[in-house]
Amino acid sequence: MSPKPQLDPRHGIRYGGDYNPEQWPEEVWAEDIELMREAGVNLVSVGIFSWALLEPREGEYDFGWLDRLFDLLHAAGIGISLGTPTASPPAWFFHRYPEARVVNRDGTTLGFGSRGMASPSSPAYRRASVSIASALAERYGDHPALALWHVHNEYGAPVSECYSDQSTQAFRAWLQRRYETLDALNAAWGTAFWGQRYEDWQHVSAPAVSASVVNPAQRLDFARYTSDALLECFILERDAIRAVCPNVPITTNFMAGTCESVDLWKWADEVDVVANDHYLVAEDARSHVGLALSADLTRSIAGGKPWLLLEHSTSAVNWQPRNVAKRRGELARNAMSHLGRGADAIMFFQWRASRSGAEKFHSAMLPHAGTNSRIWSEVRALGADLGRLASLTGTRVQAEAAILWDWQSFWAQDLEWRPSEDLSHRERINACYDRMWRDKVAVDFAHPEADLSSYRLVVAPASYLLTQAAADNLRRYVEGGGTLVVSYFSAIVDENDAVHPGGFVAPLRDVLGLTVEEFLPLRSGETVHLDQPGLTGDVWADAIRLEGAEVVMAYEDGPAAGGPAITRHQLGDGSAWYLSTRLTVTDLGVVFERVYQDAGTAVPVDLPEELEVIRRSGHVVAINHGDKPFDLDVDGTDLLSGQNARTHEVAAGGIRVISLHER
Ligand code: GAL
Repeated sequence: MSPKPQLDPRHGIRYGGDYNPEQWPEEVWAEDIELMREAGVNLVSVGIFSWALLEPREGEYDFGWLDRLFDLLHAAGIGISLGTPTASPPAWFFHRYPEARVVNRDGTTLGFGSRGMASPSSPAYRRASVSIASALAERYGDHPALALWHVHNEYGAPVSECYSDQSTQAFRAWLQRRYETLDALNAAWGTAFWGQRYEDWQHVSAPAVSASVVNPAQRLDFARYTSDALLECFILERDAIRAVCPNVPITTNFMAGTCESVDLWKWADEVDVVANDHYLVAEDARSHVGLALSADLTRSIAGGKPWLLLEHSTSAVNWQPRNVAKRRGELARNAMSHLGRGADAIMFFQWRASRSGAEKFHSAMLPHAGTNSRIWSEVRALGADLGRLASLTGTRVQAEAAILWDWQSFWAQDLEWRPSEDLSHRERINACYDRMWRDKVAVDFAHPEADLSSYRLVVAPASYLLTQAAADNLRRYVEGGGTLVVSYFSAIVDENDAVHPGGFVAPLRDVLGLTVEEFLPLRSGETVHLDQPGLTGDVWADAIRLEGAEVVMAYEDGPAAGGPAITRHQLGDGSAWYLSTRLTVTDLGVVFERVYQDAGTAVPVDLPEELEVIRRSGHVVAINHGDKPFDLDVDGTDLLSGQNARTHEVAAGGIRVISLHER
């Protein structure tokens, strides 16, 4: 296979944002471009929502304004990431093809006037998307300013599932490909339960709202089908572009870690370069940890290769309950964390704040306040700093630990009627990730069936759905010398959301050296004490029967009093830990300290928790999220200040990007 086209690394780190000049008179464009140059912008994404302007009537194109824009940007040396506008079909499209509108799970047909694609299985939508993508490729495929194709926008948002008649038919066809026979479907879905057996494919439908809880295996398959249908839409556009324009990289902006309706492990191979959008949870005072998680997940989806951050915000967004503005310096701290975790492009939504429409209160690189503003000066300063960091372009991050991540398991666990509403896969992943973030352990995310042999430590905080193949993979990993940590409510069901034969954790029984006889969820607010001073758990406990594991900590009270709470099992050259209750991030530290010893993971003891330290190839990126300065003993040159030293002070809120002398 020939290598996939990539962005030209000679341009260094790409910097810019979404640029929507069609919202402004053309006189403003010259000022935009002048200011872009002042800020060091070298890439902008255009055309993402321009379908109605580019194809005002079906089959009639108007490229005049975009032609002029391409030439202006090119003359200024600014590259173009060209969007295909298929996330927002024009009014004429929905008028002409009303059957292409998305139908909700409760049967509501969604109207026009907002944005959001049509039904992913609509033949008319697919045809129209391919037509506009092909027309753009023919028009601009050879333009020297074209650097990247940005297909669609954020597949899966704002809606993903569609329950229209056309979607139902497509779901049936998808099921026929997956199961071939109705007997196989009936077996996989367990339709003997509640008398749901099917005798005719035409009777199988999308899992719309029903009188009670709908068959969970049917819902899980519908989630898989939805992700696949969206991916087919991407592939159709991509192939139409590639046929005309084979040498320019094609991507789409993922929302790794914030939108759970697409299985990005399946998407990753289909793009030429992985790209991501990330927005902070403004309410969370430690939202930089969530940012780091999304960046690490994006790098993992990219198989460790550099990736592009296509959107984040310069300050507040407009769609959260309280849109907290970024504090002074936070813009750069956020950008540098993405960069340290493997991003080769740092881009924002959007270049110039919109005066009209739903997003007028969203921050931008050029805010409503204009250039005499804090945001503009921070945008300029970041552009200048990124210009000093070209040596990071194309380099990689090595992680020694991995957290297992599987969208299919999340979809299954999020269905109704689980043992406790306090169970949250995301909460446990966040807690384990936060623990390792504070300990400065570099983390990748991995699919449970992926090759794990390069990691010293693998953590499975939320592997509710775990296939036998994945369990075998984990067994091989531990036997080969790995350290595995498994949290409660893992390895419960197979790929059809059916409890594993042999009961809870059955496929990992010999790995963990135990079996779980019964779940013992706790009441709201109830805590249980462990026999380690000060350690308590909440939410969950298990009735565990030991089959070879040693007890590391036991319950002193609660429903499992006297029984094991935390266990360790030696298997082959490795060890497997089991955590049967919910511990806080701080308390997880007590357990992880011992886990790190098993794994041989070195944890710096003298650095404060709020100092983020990332190593990207021969560079150390240090970001101080705390309010005191700290000294970092790293022998090298800080590329931002030019200072060459063995110890670098990282000011409160400050950043260092140190090129190491010893690599
Ligand atoms: C993204 C979207 C952008 C813009 C942004 C606002 O999800 O791709 O078009 O809406 O959110 O935060």
